[in-house]
Amino acid sequence: MKKVIVSPSILSADFLHLKKELEVVESSGARWIHFDVMDGHFVNNISFGQPVLKSVSKGHHMINDVHIMISNPKKYAPDFIKFGADVLTFHLEACKDDAEVDEIIDLIHEGNIKAGLSIKPNTPVEKVYPFLKKLDLVLVMSVEPGFGGQGFMESSLTKIETLRKYIDENNLTTLIEVDGGINDKTAEECKNRGVDVLVAGSYLFGHDDIKERMEKLLK
Ligand code: DX5
Ligand code: ZN
Repeated sequence: MKKVIVSPSILSADFLHLKKELEVVESSGARWIHFDVMDGHFVNNISFGQPVLKSVSKGHHMINDVHIMISNPKKYAPDFIKFGADVLTFHLEACKDDAEVDEIIDLIHEGNIKAGLSIKPNTPVEKVYPFLKKLDLVLVMSVEPGFGGQGFMESSLTKIETLRKYIDENNLTTLIEVDGGINDKTAEECKNRGVDVLVAGSYLFGHDDIKERMEKLLK
């Protein structure tokens, strides 16, 4: 089975000791680091924005996996490209129509980084099909976006399975990332259905055995 990528979400990290937290997850095998940008409008929570990415994106050797849960992603995408995103994932539900989704994917690619599209739990997975040829990644939300520490929604497993089948049948290379409520048990269920990238926040950060927890996700 292919090696899964783990992308720890800094939303659950201790921001007073963020550099140390990054060192611990990187030395434990994390190849990506997940930045959850929230605007208090698209989601009912505010997290952090461009200044944090500008500083933090340079302080490690992991892939900067930026997940923008914001309205008007077209307006702000250039900032996140400029401040160090390697993968920039925006929400289909934040776009007014398919044409705008297309425009933002092109905008991200013009910045020479990877483009991801995220769908909320209630959005059918088929909605991403028109964009798959251009997309580097699809982010399947397994919780309602806005907060860490929520319970994994089992309905996401069918979406991952369906997407895996469609990508393979069409010989596409788009990565499947899952985000929300990932722990050693839910990670196993997602890996068995062909997920490529696991986002984990509260399962990793805030625990003394973070190295062992990373190993469980990576195995
Ligand atoms: C939720 C975020 C997730 C969240 C993951 O809106 O997109 O990345 O931080 O946190 P856990 O792993 O604790 O569910
Ligand atoms: Zn996220």
